[in-house]
Amino acid sequence: MGSPRLNRNSAELCKPFLDELRMHKVEVETRTIWRRFKTKQRLMYEIDKPCVLFAIAKQMLEAHLDPNIDAASYKPESIDRLVEWIMSLPLPENARLLDIGCGSGLYTKQFTERGLRVTGLDFSENSINYARAHDVESEYIIGDYLTMEFENTFDIVTLIMCDYGALIPDERRNLLHRVYGALRPGGLFLFDVLTPLRGKGKSDRTRWEVNPNGGFMSPNPHICLYADNYYGEIAEGQRIVVIEEQGVRCFNLWDYYFTKQALTDEVTPAGFTLEGVYTCVAGGLYTDETQRMCVVLRRGR
Ligand SMILES: C[S@@+](CC[C@H](N)C(=O)[O-])C[C@H]1O[C@@H](n2cnc3c(N)ncnc32)[C@H](O)[C@@H]1O
Repeated sequence: MGSPRLNRNSAELCKPFLDELRMHKVEVETRTIWRRFKTKQRLMYEIDKPCVLFAIAKQMLEAHLDPNIDAASYKPESIDRLVEWIMSLPLPENARLLDIGCGSGLYTKQFTERGLRVTGLDFSENSINYARAHDVESEYIIGDYLTMEFENTFDIVTLIMCDYGALIPDERRNLLHRVYGALRPGGLFLFDVLTPLRGKGKSDRTRWEVNPNGGFMSPNPHICLYADNYYGEIAEGQRIVVIEEQGVRCFNLWDYYFTKQALTDEVTPAGFTLEGVYTCVAGGLYTDETQRMCVVLRRGR
């Protein structure tokens, strides 16, 4: 992608927005739209990930369903392997599974077909409508997993695609508490996270792209400014400024990294034990050599 020089079209596209850019403290230069916007300190605690998800709901669904990219969902072959592996975990007969942040139902449908009793929960109406239209057997609920209130209901809860690390510490505590309540004693909570290896060798950078025909962040012609920040072994953050005729929107995304120890320290006070740590997504034992790991927690009795 890089930082291309402005061609005539992109210069024309940018013109109406230059004042707005200055308001957002983006330096404007003659030949390049921007250099850098310094946000590193604030980045970590601004909470607008949900706004991104609502703003790009349509494009997000398309990304879920695109078999060629491993971004919003894993690729189909990875999903199949993950489902097979989860089915091999020690679950009771007729187990009940809750998939939180289930998106378009790529996993839920497969679990139902394999005999589990499945509920999918997501706050994206768009994705749940798609899931319901393609899978009448599973139960789907439009809702927020940070406010869900199930009691003693499920044998396993899944949260797939590294969404745990996109939550700030208070939200993670809240989520662990709610998942604990939703599980039956001895039930499992399975999710994936990024490891510190993910940030190794990476340094902060900025880049931009012009999308005259629309793109992931907006279906309208727009420009995206990106700032990627790396916080050593702790986390990574991304600030995205979307500039379009309708105005300027600014989003912050972040992902915390976890070691096995950090995760153990975090989940133990919530009443969970770390049952296993695996390489994503095949279920092999974790070796400290991958950028993602999949963890299985067990709720205390
Ligand atoms: C990266 S996608 C992963 C979707 C699915 N797990 C998969 O792998 O195909 C994250 C999903 O979580 C949903 N989500 C994010 N925060 C949520 C929340 N607080 N409550 C419910 N759903 C949420 C989004 O709408 C989106 O569908």
